[in-house]
Amino acid sequence: MTARVEILASAQRALPKIAFRGASKIYGGSGRARNQTLALDSLDLDIAPAEIVTVLGPTGCGKSSTLNMIAGFEQPSTGTLTLDGQRIEGPGPDRAVVFQQPSLFPWLNVFDNVTLGVKCRGVPRETYSARAMHLLREVGLTGFERHYPYQLSGGMQQRVQIARALVSEPKVLLLDEPFGALDYQTRIQMQELLLRLWQEYRPTIFFITHDVSEAIFVADRVLVMTRRPGRVKLSVRVEADKPRTADFLSTPYFIDLQRELLHAVQEEVQASKQTAPPQAMAA
Ligand SMILES: Nc1ncnc2c1ncn2[C@@H]1O[C@H](COP(=O)(O)OP(=O)(O)O)[C@@H](O)[C@H]1O
Ligand SMILES: [Mg+2]
Repeated sequence: MTARVEILASAQRALPKIAFRGASKIYGGSGRARNQTLALDSLDLDIAPAEIVTVLGPTGCGKSSTLNMIAGFEQPSTGTLTLDGQRIEGPGPDRAVVFQQPSLFPWLNVFDNVTLGVKCRGVPRETYSARAMHLLREVGLTGFERHYPYQLSGGMQQRVQIARALVSEPKVLLLDEPFGALDYQTRIQMQELLLRLWQEYRPTIFFITHDVSEAIFVADRVLVMTRRPGRVKLSVRVEADKPRTADFLSTPYFIDLQRELLHAVQEEVQASKQTAPPQAMAA
């Protein structure tokens, strides 16, 4: 490692964008322990500014809970979670979320769906309009500005969601299986698009996926979470320059990493089948 890279790496370690410290998440806090679910157990995780972290793990291991805490929709039950050193108290315009199912307003056209949030925040029309048109071009939807969601395919609606998430230039982009419902070709296109947009805006990205190949393709670092209660089982850096093209998918490096991660996920999926149901948290 060169001296410069070392200095950069240590600066990033010193100033994480997002930091979990002993963060646990318990649902169902009515006081009756048998109704509680320990979703996350004492999570320690640092995410550096502009880092792209992808997350794999069995269903129910706490991936969405982790994302929802960064979004500010949920609070850790114990421990801390900070953004730029400040405790996350709730949602904010510095973070944008994209879910698997497009959640567009059916009565608004594409342009209005993309710009509603920034408009409500008082951003001048000239500013957000130019940004929206640029993003719609980037996501391949020029000419569809006046179309309504019902006139678009699922992939197109998802691209509108991405444009909407980025129009406010959020510092943090949170993606919860955003391409899960799309066909293979569209998914690859979306992954390439995401890397192109990252190149332009450099947001910090926390990206949940169940697709190991997708997790490697877009990531600086892939996390594999354990079965519930979720912890980080594996954290692997992807040593490949960005932007990446589909050729990366067939390199021996990619294939070896894919095998290693698939194995780690499978181990947890198998083990989770033997885990007690959520209600069985110790009293
Ligand atoms: N709002 C909630 N209330 C109660 N339990 C929840 C809630 N959200 C998630 N859980 C439980 O927490 C665990 C982790 O859920 P989640 O974070 O959605 O996992 P993942 O996204 O990895 O599938 C699961 O057992 C789930 O049933
Ligand atoms: Mg989930």
